[in-house]
Amino acid sequence: MAKLPGSAGVTLLGDKSLEFYRDPVSFCRQRIHKHRGRVFQSRLLNRPTVFVCSVRGMRELLSEKTNIFLKDPTDLMTNMYGDTLVTTNGEEACLLRLSLTSLFTETSLQSTKEFVSSVCERRLKDLSLRGQSECVYSVFKRLGIELVLGLFLNIRAEEQPELFQEIVQLCTQHWHGLISAPVNLKVPLWSSGFSTALEARDRLMDIIKDKLENDTEGFPATLASLPLPDSSAASQHLLLFISALIPKALASLLTSFTLVLSADEQAETRRRATENPDFLHTVLLEVQRLWPPFIGGRRIAEQDTTLGGFDVPKGYGAIFISHCIHRDPEVFQQPDSFLPERWSGRNAGQENFLCSFGNGARSCIGTKLTDVFLKEACVFLLNRYDWRLDPPSQDLTYKWLPVSRPANPPTVSFTQVDRSVSDGGNAMDARHAVKNGPAVC
Ligand code: HEM
Repeated sequence: MAKLPGSAGVTLLGDKSLEFYRDPVSFCRQRIHKHRGRVFQSRLLNRPTVFVCSVRGMRELLSEKTNIFLKDPTDLMTNMYGDTLVTTNGEEACLLRLSLTSLFTETSLQSTKEFVSSVCERRLKDLSLRGQSECVYSVFKRLGIELVLGLFLNIRAEEQPELFQEIVQLCTQHWHGLISAPVNLKVPLWSSGFSTALEARDRLMDIIKDKLENDTEGFPATLASLPLPDSSAASQHLLLFISALIPKALASLLTSFTLVLSADEQAETRRRATENPDFLHTVLLEVQRLWPPFIGGRRIAEQDTTLGGFDVPKGYGAIFISHCIHRDPEVFQQPDSFLPERWSGRNAGQENFLCSFGNGARSCIGTKLTDVFLKEACVFLLNRYDWRLDPPSQDLTYKWLPVSRPANPPTVSFTQVDRSVSDGGNAMDARHAVKNGPAVC
């Protein structure tokens, strides 16, 4: 077998973590170009690490060799969320997955739809009425927060505004701990972000435990009744589910969806997506292909092995880079172009070549639920509005960490359209601005 292209450098001095975290996409692009290949090595988190940027390499890492490349139990995620499925391996992971996936069956998702639809209605119905353009990422993040707190904790913003607000604030503090240095330091009048995050986590855990003990219906009650390996598993996972991660990922996808369809030349795409759920599905596949919310995930090689035909010694890290994998020209022709049609043509049936939600045995357990969230929100937007960038010229350069989105918050104007005058149910024929709304919101 061949030696991995690139260099893992020397301990500490050769570490490239800062360069990677500053701009992971440029980091990988430069090396793909330099090594003329999509699998190479560098040093990340002071560990020699294989970077996987090809579809083939990703499938080998996450599907075929899932028992060799394992989750890292010392990941920062464990610091912040405790022992959860995300960083667990072996039999315990199997048992957890079995229990937790039972929360997201078709039947439970059916009853979720009604709630999701009501939150979309409440949060998105006034986008054209405020007389100004909207910072879409913030709008969608708030929508995501209301969805997760309503669904996972039975806490509705309109029913318990103070508790709701307290949890939002605690989740933000907790999140900032995830992305700050893990130093638990507190002196009078100052405490590190990490220590504030740990305090926020403790308070969140009190709220969560109270819910698990006292709620007799909804998600907390179902979770409390599941067979889980230990008494803290339910609360740790609830903490994970209500954390800022999921609303941010939802906001990332909805922002990318809104931006790519805001161009005049995408009017036809909007029309088809409004009328045809299968086409909307391909639009959303293309959105997650080009702008996956998370940059990827890490594993550690449990034994000497190979990846992409290269030797990988035991103890090496391996990271899959979803952005680069999704633009692998071997699988996706015109990889940088937004072409929803590819999913009913050349790439039909190849959804499992994507990894926005992971891939293989350890893929995301919330994929179907996310699909419900996204489709309800997108259908609401498509049915209710036309939209465009406002101002028309904005710098939409993406940043990729901690979730992908334009570095400068993009702003969009929504114009309500009245479909009640539709002739024969053709929504597009009815697509015209209602009288009270110029193209600003
Ligand atoms: C837009 C929304 C979401 C995105 C982009 C997303 C993305 C991901 C990704 C990329 C992974 C795999 C990480 C890896 O292989 O290292 C993953 C795993 C996971 N996700 Fe999601 N996720 C989303 C929503 C959700 C939701 C709604 C839930 C639960 C309610 C959830 C729970 C999990 C869990 C528990 C895992 C770990 C699975 C395992 O290790 O076996 N996610 N997610």
